[in-house]
Amino acid sequence: MSDTDNSRRTFLALAAAVPSALAMSGIASAQTTQTAARNTEQRVAIVTGSSRGIGAATAKRLASDGYAVTVNYLTNRDLAAQVVRDIEAAGGRAIFRQADVADPAAVNALFNANDEAFGGVDVVVNNAGIMNVGPFAQMTDEAFDRMIATNVKGSFNVLREAARRVRDGGRIISLSSSIIKTPPPGTGAYAASKAVQVLYSSVLAKELAGRDISVNAVAPGAVDTELLRQHGEEALRGIPEQTPLGRLGLPEDIAGTIALLCSKEGAWVNGQNVFANGGLG
Ligand SMILES: NC(=O)c1ccc[n+]([C@@H]2O[C@H](COP(=O)([O-])OP(=O)(O)OC[C@H]3O[C@@H](n4cnc5c(N)ncnc54)[C@H](OP(=O)(O)O)[C@@H]3O)[C@@H](O)[C@H]2O)c1
Repeated sequence: MSDTDNSRRTFLALAAAVPSALAMSGIASAQTTQTAARNTEQRVAIVTGSSRGIGAATAKRLASDGYAVTVNYLTNRDLAAQVVRDIEAAGGRAIFRQADVADPAAVNALFNANDEAFGGVDVVVNNAGIMNVGPFAQMTDEAFDRMIATNVKGSFNVLREAARRVRDGGRIISLSSSIIKTPPPGTGAYAASKAVQVLYSSVLAKELAGRDISVNAVAPGAVDTELLRQHGEEALRGIPEQTPLGRLGLPEDIAGTIALLCSKEGAWVNGQNVFANGGLG
């Protein structure tokens, strides 16, 4: 018998012995049971503001990636119900719940409803947001206060619940905006409310250290949703031409970036602001 044959036999004998030695000590069977339980448990995502736009695309994408999803809305109940029907028609599981993210009690109830339906949460996409624009000289208190209540306080309410409830190994993702790089006139208050998401994510990533939970912001460029369209065609003019990839962003583009951060491949990205804008800006 050659030396090579001998080494191969020794290697195979050792390889065969290791699992049985572990099994005797009880380690392998415990690990196998734990891993099997984790693999068979369905992971769960809450997506705020998912009746339409980026949130709806994200809810559907995560459902197609195997998550049970809690869909949230403010006023558009029918749209939220349709997102759930779409997920179910594709073989997924979802529920929908009304909650104004600006109201801490409503956010708490939203997370409770999710836990009741699905037993816990692994991913929170802190997406609900509004865009009120206007030059400093003309911005009303009402428009400013509502946007800060939704984007700044609302995000805080959602992240606080997420920090308390997301299971080890989970993901927390907030929607910032590419606008924070070079905010045009009229977007001061909105850009400020989106820059906050980057700071929130950076700090929360550190606070959750040791639990294998990543916390990031995603910064879309201009995406074709009501958020922009409510400001008229003007808000979209020239954007495809200025974008190196030659078009306006779609909600599905941003859902793809969020799904990537939720995947195994996204695991090492933590405390970052990930720009997803086709190269604009
Ligand atoms: N579109 C863009 O170009 C763009 C670019 C950068 C960043 N973003 C950010 O991406 C996020 C989603 O934007 P989008 O374009 O998808 O917006 P959108 O199409 O206007 O949809 C907004 C979603 O948020 C919900 N919502 C609004 N206020 C809420 C509140 N107080 N509580 C709970 N839900 C609330 C809406 O529910 P109802 O349907 O019930 O009203 C809807 O589901 C926002 O945070 C936005 O700042 C968007």
